[in-house]
Amino acid sequence: MRRITLMQYLIEQERQTGWINADLRLLIETVSRACKAISIAIGKGELAGILGSAGSENVQGEAQKKLDVISNEILLEANEWGGHLAAMASEEMDYPHQIPHRFPRGEYLLLFDPLDGSSNIDINMAVGTIFSVLRCPEGVSEPDERAFLQPGTAQVCAGYAVYGPSTLLVLTLGHGVACFTLDRETGSFILTQNEMRIPADTEEFAINASNMRFWEPPVQRYVDELLAGRSGPRGRDFNMRWVAAMVADVHRILIRGGIFMYPRDARDSSKAGKLRLMYEANPMAFIVEQAGGIATNGHARILDIQPTGLHQRVAVILGSKNEVERVTGYHAA
Ligand code: AHG
Ligand code: MN
Ligand code: MN
Repeated sequence: MRRITLMQYLIEQERQTGWINADLRLLIETVSRACKAISIAIGKGELAGILGSAGSENVQGEAQKKLDVISNEILLEANEWGGHLAAMASEEMDYPHQIPHRFPRGEYLLLFDPLDGSSNIDINMAVGTIFSVLRCPEGVSEPDERAFLQPGTAQVCAGYAVYGPSTLLVLTLGHGVACFTLDRETGSFILTQNEMRIPADTEEFAINASNMRFWEPPVQRYVDELLAGRSGPRGRDFNMRWVAAMVADVHRILIRGGIFMYPRDARDSSKAGKLRLMYEANPMAFIVEQAGGIATNGHARILDIQPTGLHQRVAVILGSKNEVERVTGYHAA
């Protein structure tokens, strides 16, 4: 079988389909190189002294791990000089990062969650990186937060890396979803799965059940029915999984189906959910839809939400079509 590297795949898309141009290709290659560097750092773990807390907090008041900060820096440094970007935004930075004046500016905006599931780092479990690409609005030379506040439908590309037993890169250019596996010997990402599809039906669900007492009635009803299994209204048994890294939970759903929920809950009425719209929910929703799944907040399609803040949170229900439609229907009832 011909081994197709990420670089070859992207060049072929540029030549044959016109889905990407040279700048976007450079952007994706650069992000993939940064993910490789993050993967290497994670692989060294305690040997490189990179586990544990950084002793700081991000804009959302969450304690930063050393690897949150390192991964953020790797992505910034890799992407700022290539001339393909107008600005970057990240979970770990209050405000957008401007491209230093000594480098040329490009037409794209890059958003990322540099390390997703970072509480897993210290226990040697899977973590990931999520990214989303938007176009910089016409005529904007110093993009501030407002330039980024575009709905998920405006994304030109999105992807994630999952650092598990293998390091994978999953990518959509808006025409299906492809998965690449890092060959650690050659350093190339190799195409290992094209046209990923999420089965419409599933027997597996993912939710942090410790928050059950805070859930709203539609989610409560839906999960109660799953838990009732064969003797309940669904007439069959369901299994549960929760990795606590959205990337890994969503990747499982891309491989074998399932429904993932981080719903709005009553813990803090000022928060619409836990996950962040711009660099977690939107890129994952884009990927899930491109693989035939659905992503909603219970009431609306995630990709249609008009953002109001770079770090705004959103309820997320995504995955296998028939299950997401069912729980969304309970919200409307
Ligand atoms: P991050 O590490 O980027 O802050 O994201 C963690 C998120 C997400 O990946 C995961 O699904 C969720 O937090 C887990 O939350 P709980 O610890 O509440 O289960
Ligand atoms: Mn995250
Ligand atoms: Mn993170």
